[in-house]
Formats: sequence, C-alpha cells, structure tokens
Amino acid sequence: MCGIVGYVGHQAAGPILLEGLQRLEYRGYDSSGIAVLDRDGALAVLKRQGKLRNLQAAISDMPSGATGIGHTRWATHGQPSDRNAHPHASSNGDVIVVQNGIVENYRELKAELQASLEAEDRTWKSDTDTEVIPELISRELEAGKSFEDALEHAIGRLRGANAIAAIHGANPHKIYAARKGSAGGIVIGYGDGEMFIASDLPALLPHTTTIYHLEDGDIAAINQEGITVRRAGQSPFQPEPIQVDLDPVAIARGPYRHFMLKEIHEQPRALSDTIRGRARLDPPTALADDLSLSADTLRGIGRVLVIGMGTSLHAAMIGRWWMEQIAGIPADFDNASEFRFRAPLLGPSTLVVAVTQSGETIDTLGAMNHVRDRWGAPQVVITNVDGSEATRQADASIIMRCGPEVGVASTKTFVGSLAALYLLACRIGHAQGRLSDENLTLRLEQLLTAPSLLERGLELADQCARIAQQFDSASDFLVLGRGIEYPLAMEAALKCKEISYVHAEGYAAGEMKHGPIALLDQHFPVIALAPRGPLFGKMMSAIQQVSARQAPVIAIGDDGDEELSQQVDHFIGVPPAPPLLTPFSLTPVVQLLAYHIALARGLDIDQPRNLAKTVTVE
Ligand code: M6R
Repeated sequence: MCGIVGYVGHQAAGPILLEGLQRLEYRGYDSSGIAVLDRDGALAVLKRQGKLRNLQAAISDMPSGATGIGHTRWATHGQPSDRNAHPHASSNGDVIVVQNGIVENYRELKAELQASLEAEDRTWKSDTDTEVIPELISRELEAGKSFEDALEHAIGRLRGANAIAAIHGANPHKIYAARKGSAGGIVIGYGDGEMFIASDLPALLPHTTTIYHLEDGDIAAINQEGITVRRAGQSPFQPEPIQVDLDPVAIARGPYRHFMLKEIHEQPRALSDTIRGRARLDPPTALADDLSLSADTLRGIGRVLVIGMGTSLHAAMIGRWWMEQIAGIPADFDNASEFRFRAPLLGPSTLVVAVTQSGETIDTLGAMNHVRDRWGAPQVVITNVDGSEATRQADASIIMRCGPEVGVASTKTFVGSLAALYLLACRIGHAQGRLSDENLTLRLEQLLTAPSLLERGLELADQCARIAQQFDSASDFLVLGRGIEYPLAMEAALKCKEISYVHAEGYAAGEMKHGPIALLDQHFPVIALAPRGPLFGKMMSAIQQVSARQAPVIAIGDDGDEELSQQVDHFIGVPPAPPLLTPFSLTPVVQLLAYHIALARGLDIDQPRNLAKTVTVE
C-alpha cells in the first residue's frame, strides 16, 4: 500500500527520494511523486501515474533541492492519475503533504473549506481525501501559527488513521512527519549531517541502521541534525534512536529472478531462525523465553481464537488445527475483517491469537481493538515486524525471524507464522498439563525436522516448473485438500489468484461433490493435496470423481506413492511427513507451481496488479 519517503541534508534530494521509493515498490502502488525544496524555499513537485520509471524519466527536468518528500500511491479516493498522485499542495502552493491512510471526513472538511477557496478564486486540484490536509495546515499558518501547531491542529481535525510527511516553503531545511492511528508507521533514519524518513525500513537501510519509530500521536520536526518530537502530555524532546541489525544485502534480490522466488527458497532458513532457541528438548520447553504471558494466564485459557487475513488467515486455520490436536484445547479461527462486525462472544478465558506478518493490517488491528475494548481478553500477536502496531496492541508477541519479505505474495512469513503457531500450541498444551513432557518432546522433535521438509520440497522446483508450463493457459484451477491440508488448498488458490491472475478455488475435497464438480471437464485442472494420512482414502475417492469427469489432476503426495501416481495425470512426490507437519512438506510445491504459472504467463510477480504488501485501508 502507499509508501512515504523524506530527506533533509546536503545532497540533492530527488535521486535519494526516488531510490527510496524504488525500495518501497513491493508495497504496491499505481502512481508516484516527489516534492523538493531548495535553500531559498522554492518548491517543485513532480508526479506521474504508473510505474516509477515514469517519474524517473522526468526527474532530470526538476530543479534540485536538499529537502524533499516522496510517495507511492495505491488509489483509494480518485483514480490512479498524475492529478491524484501525491504529493498534494495547499491552494497557495506553500504546504506540501503526502499521506498514507484515509481521511474519513474529507467530504465534510472539503465542504467547510470550499467557501474560502471560492472567495480566493481557487479550486481543488485533485479528487483525493489527502488534499484537505495541506489546505487545513495552510489556513492555520495564515492565522499566525507555527508549522508544528498548524500540523497538530490539522491532524486533530482528521478522522481516520493517517501517516503524514510535509514540507513548507518558509522552512526550507525541515521536513515534518506525524502518525495517527494504524495507517502504517513512520521510521526516522539518522545519517551524518542528513536525516531520512520512510514508511518502511527497507527504504532506509542503504543509508543507515540508526533509526527511531514514531509512535501513535507523535508529531516530528526533522532537520539535518536530528529530530524533535511532540507527544501529548510531554515537553518536546529529542528521542533516543535505536540500532537495527538488518542487513541491506538481505533485501537485495541476489541471483533470483524475483523476490518471491528468493523468499520461497529462504524458507528453510526463515523457519530454522524462527524456532531457534524456542524448541528446547532438555527439558522440553516451547517458547520458554519468548512468551510474556503469565503461567496463570496460560493455565486459565479455555479457548483459543486465531484471526488473520489472506495468507495469515490460512495460517490461522492451520493453527486452529494444532491448538485442538496438540494443545487439546477448543479452538476456532476467524477472518479478522468480519469478526468484530458480528458481535462475537468471547468470554474472558479466550486467548486471541492475531497472525499478521506486517503487524499493520488494518482489519486485523481493528479486530484486536475490538477484543481489547469489548472483552479485555488476552491477545498474542504473531508477526514478522517487531515494533509494529500489532505488537503494541497485544499483551504478548511472538516475532518470526524471517527477515524482510519484499514480494507482495507472502511466502516465508507463512511458514514463519506456522512455526510460531505450532510452538504456541505446544506451550499452551504443556502449561495446561494436557501435553506430557514425553509428548511435548515428540512434537518438538517433529517440528525440528520441518526445515528439512521444506528443503526437500524446494528440490522439486524444476518439476514444478515443467508441470506449471503445461497449464499456463488454464483459466481456472480447483485445489482440493482435506483436514490440515484444506487451508493449504486455500493458500495455494490464493497464490494462483494473486500472482498468476488465474481464477482458482481452494476447496475441502469432501465439499467438491456438493457443487464445484459441475464445473469440471477436460479443460479444468485440479490440484489435489494428497499425502498419506488419516484422510488419504477419502482424498483418493475425490480424485477418482475428478478423473471420471476427465479433468486433469496434478497430485502432490508422498514420494513413491504408486497408487496415487498411477491414478493421476501429473504426480509430484514430496517427503513423507508426520500427519500434523504436512503443511511444511507441501507449501514449497504449491508456491512454486503458482510462481511458475505466473512466470510462464509473463506477469509482474513481485508487484501484482491492484495488490499491496501491507493493507492499511479498509
Ligand atoms: O500483513 P498481514 O499478514 O496481516 O497481511 C494479510 C494479507 O493482506 C496477506 O496475507 C495477503 O493476503 C498476501 N498478499 C498473501 O500473499
């Protein structure tokens, strides 16, 4: 979703802003723009619809300046166009703003400002909600306020969640930033005689690893020497930066053609890193030092509800399975965007587990808010971003250690989420006495084999590519699974949809004959997830029903399974896994199939159309 960058220092701001925006491309966008301010306060704005190369092509015509802000926009209000791209200026041209989030009351605010604009013979220049922000600031400046006061006043008038960066012609050596609610973060980067801002860390890492995260409600004024923060109830202060140990190389694509492919291949390491030190065998403990919930809280849990969106929802569905099977506790999952609107009944003994790789997904944050305000139930978040908004809202966090994920499609953070959910199920089951030391040891030993299951799945990449190429013109797929493989069927279908733009449905195999079977013919390929396990026989029946309708079947099952391979058109053999661990053996194969279908179709795999990495609007 939208990205923000900013720079103040001694170098030409334009190229630095552009490079920062390139590092945020993965968030998804449909237009972009930058504004620079020279030492005399002259402002220049450049905006282009489409890819950043359109902006890059025009940047040499822009006057230079050592202060500036930039933005990639993912359209919400008004179509993607040059006119609606950020930055937006006040009607007198003096205040320039970029925003992530939504000004929910922008219609009221525009109506309120309309009369003044008309009296001055000025008009709105865009269809966006954002344009009211520079206008509100500018009106307060005209009334004699300082920029910080004007910005604070303007933010106080906005309804919704907003992350904002601004520059002002009368303050040529400053950028301003503010954060309100959960519209994504603002990170400040400290350089040598220069300062940077960005909505996400990857844009800063080539310049600095010394950073500060703005908190909700903060307003910051940044010059080339540092930052001053205003926070409610405190005197303005210079915050203490922190060091992050992220390696800029970790976010480079390396030899891989796409970040998605790189991240698929990073999964064994992401999984090992996420479980390292958290699955100890002697004595057996799960998450020993990593779960800040008291023993009483853990013992008092009567039910677990796992929530999330998209891929994180599919992880939540698998997590529900583990909570029941490993922890032996009643468990449900829910789609976070629907959950709070049906007045759910939780009770104080429910533990809510929110899964969100970004920690900033607005639907999940909304659900977490509801849990806190309505039920006060304990909440654990599983996320890849330490310090994200979700970690601030939760009572405890389990931070995956997957490293930055750049491809829009979640891959390594899916297996990171799974590892955290599995460990949490072990911890709860053990704390409640349902999982004996002996059984906990067995569960943890099995989890420790998961990275090698992933490794061996990745060795099937060439076979996945060959099969995918044969189906690159298919317009539909049905993906079938049962039991713990059913959520994975949904995840496989989501991957096909989002990067291949192929219509795909993930179905519980038993449900197929209740409707979807009517779709099947020789042009409708079916992917069947059929490892040997308690439901294998039932999967075989479903596969036979598919084959009887001449639909081509691609089956993914246990390596060497003759019975299955002889029944289907294409067979991919994965390493046999214990029944509760099949998500780890199957995941790389379904991801690689989707990847290679998209590749064969020549699509923009890392930045699929209309999608954003972090969804910060409802
Ligand atoms: O950051 P989150 O895990 O909360 O994101 C949730 C979904 O937006 C995300 O999983 C989305 O479905 C991905 N593009 C899937 O690949």
